Amino acid sequence: MILVTGGGGFIGSTLVRRLAAAGDAVRVLDNFSSGFRRNLDGLEGKVEIVGADICDPEAVAMAMKGAATVVHLAAIPSVARSVANPVESWRVNVDGTLRLLEEARRAGVKRFVFTSSSSVYGDSPTLPKHEEMPSRPLSPYAASKAAGEALVSAWAASYGLSACALRPFNVYGPRQDPKSEYAAAIPRFVTAALRGEAPVIYGDGSQTRDFTFVEDAAEAFERAAKSAAPGVFNVAAGGRVSVLDLVNRIRAACGGPPPRFEPRRAGDVLHSQADVSAAERAFGFRARTSIEQGLSRTIEWFRPR
Ligand SMILES: NC(=O)c1ccc[n+]([C@@H]2O[C@H](COP(=O)([O-])OP(=O)(O)OC[C@H]3O[C@@H](n4cnc5c(N)ncnc54)[C@H](O)[C@@H]3O)[C@@H](O)[C@H]2O)c1
Repeated sequence: MILVTGGGGFIGSTLVRRLAAAGDAVRVLDNFSSGFRRNLDGLEGKVEIVGADICDPEAVAMAMKGAATVVHLAAIPSVARSVANPVESWRVNVDGTLRLLEEARRAGVKRFVFTSSSSVYGDSPTLPKHEEMPSRPLSPYAASKAAGEALVSAWAASYGLSACALRPFNVYGPRQDPKSEYAAAIPRFVTAALRGEAPVIYGDGSQTRDFTFVEDAAEAFERAAKSAAPGVFNVAAGGRVSVLDLVNRIRAACGGPPPRFEPRRAGDVLHSQADVSAAERAFGFRARTSIEQGLSRTIEWFRPR
């Protein structure tokens, strides 16, 4: 059985659907603080759902029973939210990860996949970012992910746990929440354009990102979970698109007024692009979805039906 923490979330629910379709037994552990039960609609009877907090020792011990593999995605996933409330981000992202590793060790789990983030690279000018580069967290969120990676590495070395950490780069696609105060750029831009409102860009829009379609990210998680590869791996498309270019593509497809520009946000990095060769070597992952295809599938999902 594969335990997916954060399985009610955006990336997690895409992974859970993929695993269930492959015939894997799946259990979700999620407190639905930023995820939604509706993300798992249609999986009733196929996937077990435990609605609990990863910081609750008893709930984690129960959820871990019978798990051979853990894919740990649950986290407070926002840079901005971590800047506003660093202690809360640390508690969930680091103490929660420690709790899961300990219970995984006790339960004799065979494989543990931790979700880190591209944010651990900070703002170093070197592109593309490769896994051997030193991490340089610029936000409490990035610090919490770097700390999580360190815990995973220590549990692998000390207790022989087969483990790895994945660093996704700006994942987007269906089921990403556009409404939260801390919503990511693409769902905000798409829903604004579809409503005929001006998308808000923080900074001048020249910042670039390696936008990664969620189905591709989920495939990387599945491959990592089913391999024994140790270490840290970027998960990305391997390209680079500016935020202004992205907004123009969305406006070309959906219409809507030109963007409004607001000051750059604390903790945001300027440029980001992944070297994707390590994940391909270790577990055969290569993203298949172009930005055109990914945006078109995302826009169709957000279009009112
Ligand atoms: N979306 C991205 O671009 C991106 C990039 C890099 C890393 N990540 C990481 O990927 C993971 C998934 O992110 P997402 O984008 O799907 O966000 P999400 O908010 O949709 O998913 C996070 C899930 O974790 C759950 N959760 C949060 N706190 C919890 C707790 N204390 N106990 C149990 N469940 C809890 C939430 O309810 C939610 O379902 C996170 O670890 C995030 O940091 C995401």
